[in-house]
Amino acid sequence: MVDRHGRNINYLRISITDRCNLRCRYCMPSAGVEKLPHVDILSLEEIARLVRIAAGAGIRKVRLTGGEPLVRKNVTRLIQYIKEIPEIDDISLTTNGILFSAMAEELKAAGLDRVNFSLDSLVPEKFEYITRVGNLDLVKNAIDRALSLDLHPVKINTVLIRGFNDNEIMDFADLAYKLPLHVRFIEFMPIGDLKYWNRDNIITSRETKNMIARRYQLAGAKKIRGSGPARYHKLEGGQGSVGFISPMSNHFCAECNRIRMTAEGSLRGCLYDKREVDLRQAMHHGASDEQLGQIFMETIKHKPDKHNMNNGWGAANHRKMYQIGG
Ligand code: 5AD
Ligand code: SF4
Repeated sequence: MVDRHGRNINYLRISITDRCNLRCRYCMPSAGVEKLPHVDILSLEEIARLVRIAAGAGIRKVRLTGGEPLVRKNVTRLIQYIKEIPEIDDISLTTNGILFSAMAEELKAAGLDRVNFSLDSLVPEKFEYITRVGNLDLVKNAIDRALSLDLHPVKINTVLIRGFNDNEIMDFADLAYKLPLHVRFIEFMPIGDLKYWNRDNIITSRETKNMIARRYQLAGAKKIRGSGPARYHKLEGGQGSVGFISPMSNHFCAECNRIRMTAEGSLRGCLYDKREVDLRQAMHHGASDEQLGQIFMETIKHKPDKHNMNNGWGAANHRKMYQIGG
């Protein structure tokens, strides 16, 4: 379905849990995170019903996010449910990779098409520092597993933070040269645990790209399946590519094709826009498929033309990244 700004909205991101087995410093505090009680989150059957209805409103691609989606029980069953919806032609997952290897085969068998891993450092101690509890080997194994199971395109999301991982930009680029994967550098956004965010710590995509271009020949920007607002450049002679996601330096909103649903079933037109509609409550009050479909269409219609995050995330925005799913 096309929104008021001429964008074709065909992509739904679903946060299936607000819980996470890591505690990335910029995202969550180390302790005292309030969790949603189980009774307040959508059941797998409710999610499947909503995806079916969303498909009727033009949604073709679904991504499961969190928190960490693999900590949700029976996530494989949910993928099976979604796979049965004929209009949905692409099911993907954004994960920190910790639990992925052990589940990889069943996820693929259930119908998972592809996977994105969040990974901010390739140095074990630094990875453990930023995630507070993570083990880098588990994520490396997970990436190998995804490649060997052909869950292509395999993407890596790397949030760049000056003073933390700016000295690893070339190591990430080398990884994309050696392996058939796509490393996406994300500008640090003022979302999450804001005491770690600082305007001076943003590394712009332009800076990152200039650095990589000193060693590698970058082919012209091109699209990759499910690429949304990222711009990709193949590394000449190499296997994979690097991509740049520039929410801070460049308004990518004109190319945005997505809406989002939280674990409690609130539908959002934009990551940065606090307006939401409570689908779960509507469902529990007996809304019909048609009425719920109307909510999807209204949300798409009123999707904001652009975010104004450069003015700050805003105290009014009560959601954290782990509650919306990035
Ligand atoms: N800025 C940029 N990216 C972020 N993510 C979480 N918080 C931020 C932030 N403040 C990323 C995660 C993950 C994706 C879902 O969003 O690292 O890769
Ligand atoms: Fe978990 Fe992702 Fe937040 Fe890290 S960034 S704590 S992996 S939800």
